[in-house]
Amino acid sequence: MTNYTSLDLQGPVGKPLVRVSGREKVTGTATFTAEWPIENMLHVVAVPSTIPHGTVREIDSSDAEKMSGVRLVITPENVPKFTRVQSGSETNFATTVASSLFPAAEKEVFHAGQYMAAVVAESFTAARDAALQVKLKYETKPHVTDIDQAQADERPEKLMGAPAVITIGDAEQALQESEVVVDHEYPLIGNHHNPIEMHAAIAHWTTQNNKPFLTVYETSQSLSAAQTSYAKVFGIDPKQVRVICKYVGGAFGSKGLMWPHALLACFAAKLTDQPCKCVVTRSQLYGGTGHRTPIRQRVAIGANKDGKIHSIIHDGYASTAIKDTYSEAFTMVTRMMYHTDHLRLDQKQCRLNSQMPTFMRAPAETPGMFALESAIDELAQELKIDPIELRRRNEPEKDIHSGKPFSSRLLLQCLDAGAKRFGWNDRDRAPRSQSEGNWLIGQGVAAATYPYFTFPTKVRVTVHADGRVRIDCCSQEIGTGTRTAQSQLLADMLDVPASRVSMELGDTLLPKGGISGGSATTASVGGAIRDAVEKLKSRLMGLAPSDSALSGVKVEEVRFENGTLVSPKGSIAIEDLLSDAMKESVSVMGELKASKDSAFSKHSFGATFVEVAVDEELGLVRMRRMLGCYSCGTILNKKTGRSQFIGGMIMGIGHALQEATHWDHRLGRITNDNLAEYHIPVNADIPEIDIMWIDTADYDASPIGAKGIGEISITGVAAAVANAVHHATGKRIRSLPITPEKVMV
Ligand code: MOS
Repeated sequence: MTNYTSLDLQGPVGKPLVRVSGREKVTGTATFTAEWPIENMLHVVAVPSTIPHGTVREIDSSDAEKMSGVRLVITPENVPKFTRVQSGSETNFATTVASSLFPAAEKEVFHAGQYMAAVVAESFTAARDAALQVKLKYETKPHVTDIDQAQADERPEKLMGAPAVITIGDAEQALQESEVVVDHEYPLIGNHHNPIEMHAAIAHWTTQNNKPFLTVYETSQSLSAAQTSYAKVFGIDPKQVRVICKYVGGAFGSKGLMWPHALLACFAAKLTDQPCKCVVTRSQLYGGTGHRTPIRQRVAIGANKDGKIHSIIHDGYASTAIKDTYSEAFTMVTRMMYHTDHLRLDQKQCRLNSQMPTFMRAPAETPGMFALESAIDELAQELKIDPIELRRRNEPEKDIHSGKPFSSRLLLQCLDAGAKRFGWNDRDRAPRSQSEGNWLIGQGVAAATYPYFTFPTKVRVTVHADGRVRIDCCSQEIGTGTRTAQSQLLADMLDVPASRVSMELGDTLLPKGGISGGSATTASVGGAIRDAVEKLKSRLMGLAPSDSALSGVKVEEVRFENGTLVSPKGSIAIEDLLSDAMKESVSVMGELKASKDSAFSKHSFGATFVEVAVDEELGLVRMRRMLGCYSCGTILNKKTGRSQFIGGMIMGIGHALQEATHWDHRLGRITNDNLAEYHIPVNADIPEIDIMWIDTADYDASPIGAKGIGEISITGVAAAVANAVHHATGKRIRSLPITPEKVMV
């Protein structure tokens, strides 16, 4: 019994259609948040704290206020009235206010980079110059920014809905009784997302129907939730708030919650009664907008000599902020990846004087899979079993934690298909056995996985008499091709050319959408579209004359075919139905409701293969080639889908080899808060990337058979790279990033 009946998607779905916003993007006409041409606009620049912990005793803004172009300085003395709301991560993202520390409103400092004041001026440069002249006097308190110095004596209340401790059997005892044991720590440094488009917000207060009305242009992955959040903060009805974002220039999780700069723009607009823009600078991003938490984790696996896993322990701790809690669920994957009779997952957290960490592309899976998939490779080495064969021997029949069957689980198929195309079996299996000149060559493999999520979503579908079809939804275009792929989906369901369908998104005037996170947009919007199509059919049938081919037949007997409705009795063109009913268009609403408890454990799976070359004298690790094979249900668009998989793998290279947020713990400040010193991959770092997938619709998980692809492809990369470096050099590197000094002899 499947959850959903399958759709007969034989038309535009899957076709490599060019993304509809491609031309706007490459010609520079796409309007990103900071680019809205708004008249009479002022600029806001934050004054961040230079200390990590303490109290502001005095703010001297007299010099700044005298500077040319400066309108005012916002401090706790004049900040407009607002209501404190809990940070979004504590309220299940119903609100999106990331930090409970409000900008220019606090005297207590809990992290360096916290916005203690802000300058509003007629130009960005005037505001920036004046911000440097705002003098803060502090009383400092002791701080902790080093995860190794912090007390991890607290357990998160829950991890993505699951408890922080999960036990099956007696994992410690079983580990001791195992014939072979690998037991290691896999520490991870923190990361920052660094999208190319800086975080930004433009706020404007006006009056509508004698009530205050707030318009905010904001770089956001979650407009509908942002609307609710602004309403709560300013004590107004959500109907008095409009949030707009038409394009996002990279987010990766960092724009999922509302960070303090957006509230600064609102405060400034309120105080000046003019539109105000706040763009976060690259260096302010490091204290202003969240990061991937550093993690201390251990994975221990006990197995028999035949490779059967007996016991797995995955424990450790991550950091969160002093006042705000975000719990990175890094142990979560281990409860569903492999079969074991004994399991112990135990996560704790510590609090650091940092901005709150947040989700960053496949939070949970990316750090967790690095440890687990490295450990599996280490076990394979110990046992002298091929790592793919080892995974085969430990494939679970069902989800060992929930006891539910998987909606689909094609992990082994991905590993086998990927291995064949990559030429996995052509390698010499012994570590340190392949070289070319100074380069040691190695291949590595790791599994990939990501859960299936949806968020409640509404769409409006409008069919026009001239054949045009439109989707309206307050979802977001975060760079993945949502408008293109969803138009293809609806075109396929209606059996019309994709060119006739368009999609409008990125505006809270449209029907309520969910957060574009958790790889959830495709199935959430698509599920609502499927519902809308059912309603559209009934609605159009209702328009048909009583003596027509559509009368006296059941809805299930009618289907869309080439712009007509076809029943066993005949067919009627949608165009004719509308014109006979004297209608220019018909609109219906569709909805995907909050996901209920399912009979299935829903996840996507994949396999990641990499080949590296290592120069041990120079400490160089070069990517030579990569292959990803994924099973994520139906792929709506081959071209944009492939791009997403490639994007995730490239971000994985950054995670594996380059990205690291460094701190000076004496000062409690980040030292590499710029793109010169925070390294992300550039074109020259990227090898040939081969992407393939097993396109099997999963209607046990998803109403449209598609499970989402935004995050899975990063999840296996770091372990695959570390495993390849081990194969090349014989050296096991258990911390990221794998920098030159770690591979140098
Ligand atoms: Mo993604 S890190 O769930 O926005």
